[in-house]
Amino acid sequence: MRSIFTPLYLWVAFLAGAAYAKSRNACPKNPREEFRVGKAVYLQSNKEHNSIISIPIGHDGKLHGGMITATGGMGGDGIDGATNKPAGPDALSSQGSVVYLFAVNAGSNTVSMFRIDEIDATHLWMVGEPAAIPGEFPVTAAVSVKRDVICVGYTGAKAGASCASFTPEGLGQMNQVLDFDLGQTTPPTGPTNTVAQVFFTANDTRLISTVKGDPNTNKTGFISVLPFKDSRSSALESHDTRSSPSGTSVLFGGVNIPGTSHLFVTDASFGATLLNLHATTDKVSLRQKIVIERQQATCWAAYSQARESVFVTDAAANRLIEISDDGSEIMSIIDLKNGDPGLIDLETSGRFVYALSPGNGTTSAAITVVDSFQGRQIQHFMLDKLGAGKLSQGLAILQ
Ligand SMILES: *[C@@H]1O[C@H](CO)[C@@H](O)[C@H](O)[C@H]1NC(C)=O
Ligand SMILES: *[C@@H]1O[C@H](CO)[C@@H](O)[C@H](O)[C@H]1NC(C)=O
Ligand SMILES: *[C@@H]1O[C@H](CO)[C@@H](O)[C@H](O)[C@H]1NC(C)=O
Repeated sequence: MRSIFTPLYLWVAFLAGAAYAKSRNACPKNPREEFRVGKAVYLQSNKEHNSIISIPIGHDGKLHGGMITATGGMGGDGIDGATNKPAGPDALSSQGSVVYLFAVNAGSNTVSMFRIDEIDATHLWMVGEPAAIPGEFPVTAAVSVKRDVICVGYTGAKAGASCASFTPEGLGQMNQVLDFDLGQTTPPTGPTNTVAQVFFTANDTRLISTVKGDPNTNKTGFISVLPFKDSRSSALESHDTRSSPSGTSVLFGGVNIPGTSHLFVTDASFGATLLNLHATTDKVSLRQKIVIERQQATCWAAYSQARESVFVTDAAANRLIEISDDGSEIMSIIDLKNGDPGLIDLETSGRFVYALSPGNGTTSAAITVVDSFQGRQIQHFMLDKLGAGKLSQGLAILQ
């Protein structure tokens, strides 16, 4: 007999997992066993009939098998401003198009919510119908488990962010909370001058959005900070605070370093930044500029609790770069020799890093699994054999 986790219950378990890792961390018996391994990885195909690809994680951190579940929505492809053709591998030019467990459907302006089976985490049920978003070309989402809120960022002719509260039964009304005047089209022409990511601070008090500038037209990018109304409510304030930290121009994917006021955000034009979020003004300023040599498009970032570092990826370089979480140094560069053209969305789970190569039409999408303690690839998992096509976007993990 199969029993079903409600998403709520699942998220409580997920949080308990993080607490477990933390308390073990205080007194590690064996540092290598300190962190648990995740249960499953989730991606989206971003095809016309969009679907979620769910792949179980074994005890050794490796992937095996996998399942495909329809999202009921349509994928979408941005336009590459340099070629005027579909943006191809980096179709959404965003981080976080799949978040635990929701997926945006860029081509049909909806977001799909899923329930995860308790026994088999690859087994998904869509909750209700995909919910309509009051905007165009959604590319990124953020979930607050604490407040039961999801926010979706979109970057077409109508750009901004909308949020809804949710219960295990489904999503409430999506209300617009941010309006970005980008002068974009649907689909958008990018990758510059588009929304890159929405995410919450680690303490779930603020919604952060990164919007890429466009150096070619001197258009300044910015980072938006929008607080919740109070410590418990699911309602956000009506006005955000926007900053363009000095020296930045194409701010992309990011994360709030837990327990600090620091936002670690990539900048596709030179590498990465450590930014400070001011506790009372909500202004964001530059603390550290991390220039990555020979980088081309450093856009995605994931925090590693196990390493106290951030891993970043580059769409045009097949390597993982690990930067200390205070932005002071590059800790390691893991060059991969598996034939992938580059990497986009990534997540960490314990000592393992899961990084997506989105596929480029000839080379299939693949996930590279890296053991961060050993600094080497332990698996290169091709996605085409699962039958969801050769391309993929987004990456979330059930911890
Ligand atoms: C952008 O700014 C630079 C320096 O101020 C200027 O030389 C250039 O003409 C500007 N480009 C556009 C497209 O406005
Ligand atoms: C939550 O985190 C933000 C950003 O790091 C910080 O400025 C703020 O003071 C924190 N708020 C609480 C209530 O802990
Ligand atoms: C895809 O990537 C592979 C490996 O880097 C490369 O050989 C191939 O030319 C690329 N194909 C396209 C269409 O860019």
